[in-house]
Amino acid sequence: MSAAGDSAALPGAPHLARRDGELQLEGHALAELARQHGTPLYAYSRGAMRAALAAYQRALMGRPHLICYAMKANSNLAVLQTFAEAGCGFDIVSAGELARVQAAGGRAERIVFSGVGKRRDEMALALEAGVRCFNVESQGELRVLDEVARAHGVRAPMSLRVNPDVDAGTHPYISTGLKSNKFGVAHGEALAAYRLAASLPGLRIEGIDCHIGSQITQIEPYLDALDRLLDLVESVEALGIPLHHVDVGGGLGITYTDESPPAADVLVGRLLSRMDARGHGHREVLLEPGRSLVGNAGVLVTEVLYLKLGEVTNFCIVDAAMNDLTRPALYDAYMGIEPCRMRGDAVRQRWDVVGPVCESGDWLGRQRDLAVAVGDKLAILSAGAYGMAMASNYNTRPRAAEVMVDGPVVHLIREREKPRDLYAGERLIPH
Ligand code: LLP
Repeated sequence: MSAAGDSAALPGAPHLARRDGELQLEGHALAELARQHGTPLYAYSRGAMRAALAAYQRALMGRPHLICYAMKANSNLAVLQTFAEAGCGFDIVSAGELARVQAAGGRAERIVFSGVGKRRDEMALALEAGVRCFNVESQGELRVLDEVARAHGVRAPMSLRVNPDVDAGTHPYISTGLKSNKFGVAHGEALAAYRLAASLPGLRIEGIDCHIGSQITQIEPYLDALDRLLDLVESVEALGIPLHHVDVGGGLGITYTDESPPAADVLVGRLLSRMDARGHGHREVLLEPGRSLVGNAGVLVTEVLYLKLGEVTNFCIVDAAMNDLTRPALYDAYMGIEPCRMRGDAVRQRWDVVGPVCESGDWLGRQRDLAVAVGDKLAILSAGAYGMAMASNYNTRPRAAEVMVDGPVVHLIREREKPRDLYAGERLIPH
């Protein structure tokens, strides 16, 4: 890391830079944001989100396409608003996510509805809203969607999520395109499923889709999956069933430490060339990026509460915990950790950065060399995706506040929860 006085962007996060020892997000000192809004605090750069989306949009320019932000990565209304205003659609997986898109001003005709376990009431709400497409994951779901659509007197637009059986080369919990995963219709079963879909009067076949995993850092698995999809498109159309769009899902990785995933425009360029080469250049392309649109746009700022020197391990105890950011505990994920303000007086020592939750699994970073003192603020990097979205209230910890930096302005986009918010829906039993 750069010494005080330098100005340097951090890996993968051009909107985050250290100037005169201060870590800044779009020019706003994180330590100052923490002073104003308290900790733990999620802070996002609106410019970084827009720039990430623009890279996809540039690569798709001139082609029929729809980018559907996989909002599970970060579903704050202001984040959704930012993408909706930039013309982006959304990939949703629940009626709750549908309600959020609607509250944020997103357009239903730009929504695809994914997910392996959609309920009838969720299908009904999505049909009433007029979503663009249901990504159906099983023959059972085809039949249920057909029934729900007919009960509503409409035809449900649908695409079949195919499990292409390719290895995305990522963490097993976030790999989704293998035969052993619960997702999608097996490649070998897909023709039969399309035949069934074509026979059901409540369905309107629109396309085909897949999603092979998350935090993917190679192009090859995408090309393999695309080839498998295009093989199917050709066989399905040979049956007389036209397919309008090809949705290749999301999954592009970001830089947490030393990963070097392809840039979004490079990946998209390669996918489009492959489609052209196989004579599918006219087809509409859908993408469902989540992490790559928001991950490197956000940090989680936390305060050092105690420093506990141990015989084996030194613990830097901070006020953010596994309930605020669960990726390290859940996936053994590495997230960068940087002091918000460099200090010359403290010596660097090796620390396990841990939270206050009563579990040994409650850690945010292990064996990190940091010069810290009690009261310092630390930034956990690349926390814009699957950070707040996966936060819980474990240990009755109110969830963090969120701010969005937009040029000179800082917007509070979510208030810090209060303990009473957490039990507001609970009831005492009458005596
Ligand atoms: N489309 C579908 C159908 C998905 O299931 C997902 C993510 C995406 C798109 C977006 O993938 P992305 O571009 O964000 O990789 N909580 C995990 C990641 C779980 C991803 C689940 N599905 C993590 O923190 O690493």
